[in-house]
Amino acid sequence: MLVENQVPLQSLNSFGIQAKAHHLVRVAGVADLLALHHAHPAWLRSQPLVLGGGSNLVLTGDVQSLVLKVEILGRRLVADTPSHWVVEAGAGENWHDLVAWTLEQGWPGLENLALIPGTVGASPVQNIGAYGVELQDRFHSLDAVDLHTGQVFTLDAAQCGFGYRDSVFKHVGGNQGQLGLAGRALITHVRLALPKHWVPELGYLELARKAEEAGAAHPPSARQVFDWVCAIRRAKLPDPAVLGNAGSFFKNPTVSPEQCADIIGRDPKVVHYPMPDGSVKLAAGWLIDACGWKGKTVGQAGVYDKQALVLVNRGDAEHPCTGGQVMTLARAIQTSVYERFGLRLDIEPVVV
Ligand code: EPU
Repeated sequence: MLVENQVPLQSLNSFGIQAKAHHLVRVAGVADLLALHHAHPAWLRSQPLVLGGGSNLVLTGDVQSLVLKVEILGRRLVADTPSHWVVEAGAGENWHDLVAWTLEQGWPGLENLALIPGTVGASPVQNIGAYGVELQDRFHSLDAVDLHTGQVFTLDAAQCGFGYRDSVFKHVGGNQGQLGLAGRALITHVRLALPKHWVPELGYLELARKAEEAGAAHPPSARQVFDWVCAIRRAKLPDPAVLGNAGSFFKNPTVSPEQCADIIGRDPKVVHYPMPDGSVKLAAGWLIDACGWKGKTVGQAGVYDKQALVLVNRGDAEHPCTGGQVMTLARAIQTSVYERFGLRLDIEPVVV
C-alpha cells in the first residue's frame, strides 16, 4: 500500500478538470484497505473520496480528504441457476467492457446499459440506467468494506435502497440513525443476475423505432440491442475521451399530474412520461432546451449542442473548464428553468 501525494486528477475525471488529490491510495484489493486501516485509521474515518472512473464527478478544487482510487479487477461466473447466470466483477472493472464480455459469453441482460462510462463499482452508487433498464433490475448483491471498521459486508438490493439515480451510497449517515454510506463504504465487488428467460427491453421510443426499422418478424438478439444502444448513444451523447463531460448533469424532475397539466397548459410540447405511481416525469433536457441553453458556453463550460442535459468542457487539456465554471453554468440553468417552469432541477453528479 503506497500513499501518493499531490496527485494530478485531470486524467482521472471524465470532465478533464484540473485538480490535485493531496493524498491518493490505489486500492487493488481488500488487503490494501486493511493495510491503510492499520496505518492511517483517521484518514479512513474522515470521509475519503472513493474514485472509480471519475465519470460522475465535478471537482471544484483540490481534494483535501484522502482519495481512494478503486482498481479491483476480475470477472467470473459465480452461479448458474435454472433462472439466472450470476456474474461477479471487481469494482475497478470498466462497466462497458463488462457488458460486452457478458454478451460474448452468451449471457444477455445488460445490453441496454451499453456505453455508460465509468466502473462497475460506481454502477450501484447512482443506480445507472438507460433505455428502460436500471442496474437494480439486474442487481444481485455487492461486497463492500466499512472504512471505519475495516469489516467486509454484503448488501442485497433492498439494503442498497435503490431509487432513480440514487442509493444508500449517495447519502451520508445521520446521528438519528438515517441509513447512509457515502464516504463510509468502499464497494469491492458487484454481482449481477442475468436472466436465462431473456426478452428484449424495447419500450424506449428510439429503441422501438430501431426494432421497427429492422422488421418486427425477427425479435432482436441481445447483441443487436447492444449495437442499437451504442448507435443511439454515439449519436447524441459526447464521448468523454473527446469532449469532457459527466453524462446527464441534472435528474429528470418528477411532478404531480396537476403540476404537469399546468405546464402543458403553458407549454403544450413539454416531454413528459406518466410513472406507475401516478406522478409524471419531465424531460429535464427538454426544459433546459426550451430555455434556450443548448449549445451555449459560459467561460469554458458549455451545454452540449445535441443534448441540453449534458454539460461539457469546452476548454483544451492545458486550459480546461474549472469546476467553478461548471457550477456557475449549472446554477444559471437551474435559475432559468425555475423562473420559467417553477421547477428546481437536481444536480446528478457528485460535486466535490
Ligand atoms: N430533449 C430535447 N432537447 C434536448 C434534450 C432532450 O427536446 O436538448 C427531449 C428529447 O427529444 C426526448 C426527451 O427530451 O424527447 C428525453 O431525452 P433523452 O431521450 O435524450 O433522455 P433523457 O431523459 O435526456 C435519460 C437519462 C440518460 C439515459 C437516457 C436514455 C437521466 C438524468 N438521464 O436521459 O442517462 O441515457 O434517458 O434512457 O435520467 C446519465 O444518467 O448520465 C444518462 C445519460
